[in-house]
Amino acid sequence: MNTLLVTGGAGFIGSNFIRFVLRERPGWRIINLDKLTYAGNLENLQDVEDHPGYSFVRGDICDRALVHALLSGEHPATVTHRPNIVVNFAAESHVDRSILDASPFVETNVLGTQVLLEAARTLWLGSGSQDPQPKLFVQVSTDEVYGSIEAGSFTEDSPLQPNSPYAASKAAADLLCRAYHRTYGLPVVVTRSSNNYGPYQFPEKLIPLMVQNALEGKPLPVYGKGENVRDWLYVEDNCRAILMVIESGRPGEVYNIGGGCERRNIEVVELLCEILRAHPRTRHLTPQIQFVQDRPGHDFRYSLDSTKIQRELGWTPATPLEAGLERTVEWYLDHQDWVRRVLTSEYRDYYARVYERGWR
Ligand code: NAD
Ligand code: DAU
Repeated sequence: MNTLLVTGGAGFIGSNFIRFVLRERPGWRIINLDKLTYAGNLENLQDVEDHPGYSFVRGDICDRALVHALLSGEHPATVTHRPNIVVNFAAESHVDRSILDASPFVETNVLGTQVLLEAARTLWLGSGSQDPQPKLFVQVSTDEVYGSIEAGSFTEDSPLQPNSPYAASKAAADLLCRAYHRTYGLPVVVTRSSNNYGPYQFPEKLIPLMVQNALEGKPLPVYGKGENVRDWLYVEDNCRAILMVIESGRPGEVYNIGGGCERRNIEVVELLCEILRAHPRTRHLTPQIQFVQDRPGHDFRYSLDSTKIQRELGWTPATPLEAGLERTVEWYLDHQDWVRRVLTSEYRDYYARVYERGWR
């Protein structure tokens, strides 16, 4: 039986992943280490908080003593089950916020990852580590580390050319993972996925932001001309891919996880408007698209070649974009209380800086 130290499990993908693993792998244990930043929300895991295989620890991945105690089994949360797998979701994840202030991105995404890697190295590879259980460090990364591509798709061997402070911090973490594998032999796997969407996504990201603005009768702010292309991946498909990587991925390897649903942003927003206009609960709405100032350094297109994970692990995305968006819209309609609670004054200040004060 595996014991997972999942970091950032109170965020969007992490909470979906925890729920998915508890359902798919009964008997596994999960310790969720999360700092609960603006993006972390224990409400995302309310339905599993009493699950016998799950426990939560509030803390920072940059806290060396805490991370060491959790991985070594000296912490009360891990004293009976020491984690043999780390899945690092914890990050500052929003590109627009990294443009306003890169500092927390460097701290959490770079330094925090190094703290986790170092604890794993010390405890898993250090002298006296007798534990025979196989170990794995899974770094959850992103297609943004490759930069933008006009035509064709990135493979795992494409050079890293990140353009935003967020992407640069994730690329730095990927390189640390590579270095810890090459230098020390730490069993590390890196996953690089495309844009996730689905339930529990913080409404600063494109899809939930557009749905929420439409519901509130606000304009739908599309950057530039809406021509930029993203490859959309339903979050549960990503969770399934990460589980496959844990079980069958080869240490030292990188796996691209692409949704196979490339669309221009304007197409996605128009599709959302169509879904809302056709839905019995929202057909009275008249969503208005507004073209607004572009994101500085806006990557034009992301595109992943996912042949490797398909060939080696048999993973393919299962959710077509239209079906995934319908499910997502339904979830936001049913969870307006959740949305209201996460739309704090902090969010409104952030929103004003990006959408009303021109990124200042
Ligand atoms: P999110 O912003 O929804 O959640 C991040 C979580 O990390 C939050 O719960 C937050 O409280 C926690 N956290 C932040 N700093 C922390 C720290 N110092 N210590 C402990 N916890 C901390 O992010 P997400 O969209 O769920 O993304 C999860 C991971 O997946 C990130 O590493 C991100 O780079 C990567 N990723 C995201 C996408 C996407 O489309 N959302 C795509 C590819 C990769
Ligand atoms: O590609 C994977 C990445 O996807 C992850 O690594 C990041 O954590 C995640 O935030 C996401 O980054 P993007 O910048 O691509 O996602 P976002 O939802 O912010 O934007 C998607 C596209 O929509 C992008 O081209 C910018 C555009 N956009 C976004 C917002 C918030 C708009 O046009 N208007 C908006 O208001």
